[in-house]
Amino acid sequence: MTVSESVSKPHRVVVIGTGAVGSTTAYTLLLHKRMSELVFIDANHNKALGEALDMNHGLPFVGGVKLWAGDYSDCKDADIIIIAAGSNQRPGETRIDLLNRNSAIFEDIISNITKYNNSGILLIATNPVDILSYVSWKKSGWPSNRVIGSGTLLDSARFRYLIGKEKGIDPRSIHAHIIGEHGDSELPVWSLSNIAGAPLDFEEDKQNEIFENTKNAAYEIINAKGSTSYAIALALDRIVAAILQNEHAVLNVSSLLEDYHGISDVYLGVPAIVGRDGIQAKLPIPMNEHEEQLLRASAQKLKDQIAQLDI
Ligand code: LAC
Repeated sequence: MTVSESVSKPHRVVVIGTGAVGSTTAYTLLLHKRMSELVFIDANHNKALGEALDMNHGLPFVGGVKLWAGDYSDCKDADIIIIAAGSNQRPGETRIDLLNRNSAIFEDIISNITKYNNSGILLIATNPVDILSYVSWKKSGWPSNRVIGSGTLLDSARFRYLIGKEKGIDPRSIHAHIIGEHGDSELPVWSLSNIAGAPLDFEEDKQNEIFENTKNAAYEIINAKGSTSYAIALALDRIVAAILQNEHAVLNVSSLLEDYHGISDVYLGVPAIVGRDGIQAKLPIPMNEHEEQLLRASAQKLKDQIAQLDI
């Protein structure tokens, strides 16, 4: 492919599932003009049609993107296929509680995608995202670098926001990582967190308060408005940008670990280099013994769940 061909090649993103997360993500991608073609697929085709119609009416204000409600044949030329289909947490439900319902629909989704596309990148948002990323990798047979979960990118954003709020500093200037499960066993890497290289000086009580508010943020939002949508959409948009612009950006997405601090054969959120081919490398960040133990425990929790699946 010549440079001119690569520059003019249309980028297509397919969003499967046009519920709160899928439709908000699609709208965010549109506003940022991440791609030239955007396709919505939903089991409820009328819903996809409605989302496409509503967004098409905004094109005179945004322009530059062709979008439509389609079917799985539209996956054929997709660069990225985002899966946001399935049930969301109800108040009081954990993300793991969604596993049986959502893993059941992934069988069909992955099978339908791979009928038309075996060269794109799968970006999983449906929860429990780490396990469903693993399921998608196994079911698709695609190389693991092209199967990515949103991971703890959103959790790390919440963590950075809460630290920035405490310090009165722009969250973009806060360097802090939440790693592990996108869920109740996630962990903060306080030992690496810093502002302009200076370690954070929170008392233990404040650290615990910030982390608990980070970990429980989704429950709080779900209780208030029924589901989360905006921040996860921005996180997915960030990942799409890193891929399509071949950024080599370090993002805490969910990827297949292979001897990562001794952890293998599980998808977890850790800092990874993301570019045009998906996951280019995982960064084995230094962490203290306690943090490493928590990461191993998070991995084991997910492996125990995976062991119960028929994949
Ligand atoms: C949340 C959902 C995406 O944490 O799991 O908002």
